[in-house]
Amino acid sequence: MAVREILIYPDDILAMVAKPVANPTSDEIKTLVQDMADTMYDAPGVGLAAPQIGVSLRIAITDTQWRSGRYEDNNHDKNIEPEKDLRVWINPEFLWCSDETSVFEEGCLSVPEVYENIERPSAVRLRWLDLDGEQHEQDFEGFEAVALQHEFDHLDGKLFVDYLSPLKRKMVRKKMMKRYKS
Ligand code: NI
Repeated sequence: MAVREILIYPDDILAMVAKPVANPTSDEIKTLVQDMADTMYDAPGVGLAAPQIGVSLRIAITDTQWRSGRYEDNNHDKNIEPEKDLRVWINPEFLWCSDETSVFEEGCLSVPEVYENIERPSAVRLRWLDLDGEQHEQDFEGFEAVALQHEFDHLDGKLFVDYLSPLKRKMVRKKMMKRYKS
């Protein structure tokens, strides 16, 4: 178990375009994914991209079950682990995005305590590789589609705050600097 430090906005690595993974089946990638999972569940969060722990590679993980399950249930006993549904996305690519959009409140482990409504395509078709190097294609909609777009933006050096107005983004930046540079 290795919980890694999560980089906080603004950070140069978070703003970089990440490199494709050359060998998804390598031990190095398996270890990285394990560290990412440990870090995401520890936070806790519903998604994490490799650049958020300082590794500029095109890998992200999600667990949207973590959100829709007992985790957000007020009655949930903190001693009982919510059911896990860890998904690993290597070299993901959107093949299609719907014209129809929807708005969800988004947050990010790299921008703590900031939540904003963001508009994105409601449905997407995705192609990606798994840890066995197998290629998959699948359609997603609803919260899952949004979570995937948020995570894969990280691989292009983009954060959800980049969708905000310049003024709002400046305020978020100030807030993060104040909190984390002191
Ligand atoms: Ni994020």
